[in-house]
Amino acid sequence: MRSLVVEHPLLAHKLTVLRDATTDSATFRNLVDEMVTLLAYEATRGLSTRPYDIVTPVAAMTGVHLTKPRPMVVPILRAGLGMLDGMLRLIPTAEVGFLGMVRDEESLLASTYAERIPTDLTGRQVFVLDPMLATGGTLVTAVELMLDRGARDVTAIVLLAAPEGLAHVESAFADRDADVTVVMAGLDEHLNDVGYIVPGLGDAGDRLYGSV
Ligand code: URA
Repeated sequence: MRSLVVEHPLLAHKLTVLRDATTDSATFRNLVDEMVTLLAYEATRGLSTRPYDIVTPVAAMTGVHLTKPRPMVVPILRAGLGMLDGMLRLIPTAEVGFLGMVRDEESLLASTYAERIPTDLTGRQVFVLDPMLATGGTLVTAVELMLDRGARDVTAIVLLAAPEGLAHVESAFADRDADVTVVMAGLDEHLNDVGYIVPGLGDAGDRLYGSV
């Protein structure tokens, strides 16, 4: 598994405003949207392309087009939904699957409550969106589902990760015959005893959409 913390002054500034407890939901949503586009630029460096012949107003040339099947973007509900528009701005031709997962606040175990993903992901490059990589349980379950359906190239885009969660994902996929990558804006200090990332930004879903 590969992991990458994207270092950029704009990302660092936006992340600081995002973390601030006084930032309201509307500003939080806009910031997430902008940050995902910046992260997606790095996360999509490995997209596969094929030669494509065109004629410019001046000359014939061979450029590139993205290959088919089209990339698949999978936001993990609820908080991953806040990352979808920023991702699609960069890859408007991607297809979108949905995965609803919930974490039991006592056991911290993740379970799936909704799923709309093609049964065959062979040859697809998959991008999983989830703002917080905390224990890693949700991400491991999500990536396993993609690999079970034939994907061999899965990139998770997260805003923040905890070292414990990243280590969990690393050990889960160390021996798998697949390219699994985690791209993040920040790697924080640790998880607290209720599974929150410290210093983190709180509950990403609540900050995006208000508490339910
Ligand atoms: N999920 C969140 O939204 N925040 C955390 O800190 C951990 C998990």
